Amino acid sequence: MQMERLINTFHDIFQTNQETRHFFAPGRINLIGEHTDYNGGYVFPASLSFGTYAIVAKRNDRHLRFYSMNFEDQGIITVSLDQLSYAKRDDWANYPKGMIKAFIETGYPIDHGFDILFYGNIPHGAGLSSSASIELVTGVAIESIFNLSIDRIDMVKLGQKVENDYIGVNSGIMDQFAIGMGKKDHAILLDCQTLEYQYAPIKLDDYVIMIMNTNKRRELTESKYNERWNECARALQDLQKELPINSLGEMTIEMFEAHKDLIKHTVDQKRAKHAVYENQRTKEALTKLEQGDLTNFGLLLNQSHLSLQHDYEVTGIELDTLVESAWDQSGVLGARMTGAGFGGCAIALVNQSKVDDFKVNVEDAYKRRIGYSPTFYQATIGDGAKELI
Ligand code: GLA
Repeated sequence: MQMERLINTFHDIFQTNQETRHFFAPGRINLIGEHTDYNGGYVFPASLSFGTYAIVAKRNDRHLRFYSMNFEDQGIITVSLDQLSYAKRDDWANYPKGMIKAFIETGYPIDHGFDILFYGNIPHGAGLSSSASIELVTGVAIESIFNLSIDRIDMVKLGQKVENDYIGVNSGIMDQFAIGMGKKDHAILLDCQTLEYQYAPIKLDDYVIMIMNTNKRRELTESKYNERWNECARALQDLQKELPINSLGEMTIEMFEAHKDLIKHTVDQKRAKHAVYENQRTKEALTKLEQGDLTNFGLLLNQSHLSLQHDYEVTGIELDTLVESAWDQSGVLGARMTGAGFGGCAIALVNQSKVDDFKVNVEDAYKRRIGYSPTFYQATIGDGAKELI
């Protein structure tokens, strides 16, 4: 969508001639390292070139007016700077509201309201982090229009706090970090325990990353997500009875195998196994990518999916069908689900010359089994959240 159209819509909707400023925050995919972030492990995400745009103008009073071109039927949502608590009726606007509240509570002087229009081209509900994208685009907008200078990682942490304390999902820091810190053509290997990170160029030779959307309505994702969080927390507690560890991310595979019987419930044991092995795979994936060893990088993606399918149990028939049919295609080095799971998207590493066949065949297999079509997008890796000048 053209910027000009967004700006015109802003003026039409809010009926103002105020000068506007313009911001963007991407969505993200995760290459590998799934459900490891809240377990103190490694993740390896990258920011996409599609995301959320925001057009903003400051007001002279204490009103905040929100409008989303993706939820036009909800119209303008108006709140006051003095009434920022979570309200069900404000629906999607709770994400920017939560972010503004988090800034104020941290002590940033937000003393005027503003009008803000959002437009997102991240497929909605696809698990590509449209919510973290809205949080971060709001964050960079506040930073600029109030002339604040905020350490980017502190802003990332505020976004996670909004998810955890305001929205009520126990998510880790991966999404906000990938979106706040993203870099064109790079993935980020992030240690979620220490927040140490490094950029890795995504050099894929003749291969491209295809995103495959299950188009499954994501229901129960949040409750299932919190359930996994609790299972891992319980496994950790059991292990801590004998081991001086702060997170599952601190365990090597050998350590886990030697002590796994400390974990009382078999289900918790499976969850912890995934977290420990996935962490190891993620570190290896960086090495393989750096070495240009795409074949073994692809195999790690496959192992990750199998572990999420059988040990972590967050895939489901839609994601499994997409990934398994991707594995069957020629020119595919690897495929796995990405993000929280239970629907949403998978990714596959596909030879450029085979992309057309790949789409036709995977769609065919998926449709036969699931009854409706998936959607495909070729991933391009863009920059993190920023002002557009
Ligand atoms: C969601 C959460 C992230 C992460 C992934 C799973 O995207 O927001 O913090 O836990 O699921 O890896």
